[in-house]
Amino acid sequence: MNPSSPAPTAAAGSADAWSGAGRRIFMQEVGPRDGLQVEKAFVPTADKIALVDALSDAGMAKVEVTAFVSPQAVPALADADDVLRGIRRRPGTVYTALVPNPRGAERAIAAGADELNLVMSATETHNLSNLRMTREQSFAGLAQVAAMAHAAGVAVNVSLSCSFGCPMEGDVPAETVDAWTDRFVGPEIGARGVTLCDTTGMAYPTQVVALARRFRARHPGTELTLHFHNTRGMGLANVLAGIAAGADRFDASLGGLGGCPYAPGATGNVCSEEIVHALGLMGYDTGVDLAALVAASRRLPGLVGHDTPSQIAKAGQRLDLHPPPAGFDAIRARALARDAA
Ligand code: COA
Ligand code: ZN
Repeated sequence: MNPSSPAPTAAAGSADAWSGAGRRIFMQEVGPRDGLQVEKAFVPTADKIALVDALSDAGMAKVEVTAFVSPQAVPALADADDVLRGIRRRPGTVYTALVPNPRGAERAIAAGADELNLVMSATETHNLSNLRMTREQSFAGLAQVAAMAHAAGVAVNVSLSCSFGCPMEGDVPAETVDAWTDRFVGPEIGARGVTLCDTTGMAYPTQVVALARRFRARHPGTELTLHFHNTRGMGLANVLAGIAAGADRFDASLGGLGGCPYAPGATGNVCSEEIVHALGLMGYDTGVDLAALVAASRRLPGLVGHDTPSQIAKAGQRLDLHPPPAGFDAIRARALARDAA
């Protein structure tokens, strides 16, 4: 061993460094928004409402119910007002909605959102592609949105798309993320929380640790959410890296549905039931009823008309046991007969 490198501590090499030990992790469901926004088939309003209610009942801490965006831009969520007005409010659950501009804020506040999730991108190219505005134009609109929310007593979170990389511009400097998140937390917006979004699955665990620690150090009093897509198979690894860096809020979508319509190659969010399953085994407290979540996930193909990426919906939980294969008694009898011979 290199004598200059520090000796590993006992904890770093033991299960303790990985153990949740009952630590609370807040699971924030984005399936009804991020999941459904790219679906080709229009999911009927009543089915969307039933989906949100099932996610509430399963114990998700926050549910992103819909997006108040232009119905031309995202026809799948054109019924946002009716969905938000139609859901059952479970005490303790936060119902949030994505909002890109003042028109969206007006609608979301009127329909009763607990929180507005303001959105813009870390890069100019993605912001122009997704929101048809420069970043400064977006920010100016979001400052108005925040003023409307504060006046109505509605909480404000800001999601920064492409925080971990942009599919068109490439790597995003950490200083760019600092500059925007400083402005979100500052007086112009006064956000309670910030979400660092890996919109197209470019984040990797060591980058997640670095960026999450950096945010935590700059803004110790601000809620931090991490939002990962599983585009390159690093979703769960990134969640665990985020936890190691002190994050305790994660966006995820039921069945692993999702994707941004303006990000080439985008695929689903990290899958809610996969994250809840893994974190539960590791001793974290997500407050989620996994069986209820899996049951809801297994109803999704009926809603969206295709299979979902969920591994848990397919394979079941780790201790969902199966009977031995056909002819097992004969196999055993034959094996035991060898000992008798
Ligand atoms: N809700 C409903 N309608 C809206 C709206 C909102 N939040 N914002 C704009 N509109 C309507 C306008 O009233 C206008 O309608 P009209 O043509 O009947 O007059 C039309 O949409 C165009 O408005 P404009 O302000 O010119 O918007 P735009 O065409 O420049 O698009 C956005 C800007 C932000 C509204 C649009 O790009 C958008 O909604 N993007 C969201 C994309 C998204 O959700 N991506 C995935 C999540 S990150
Ligand atoms: Zn997303």
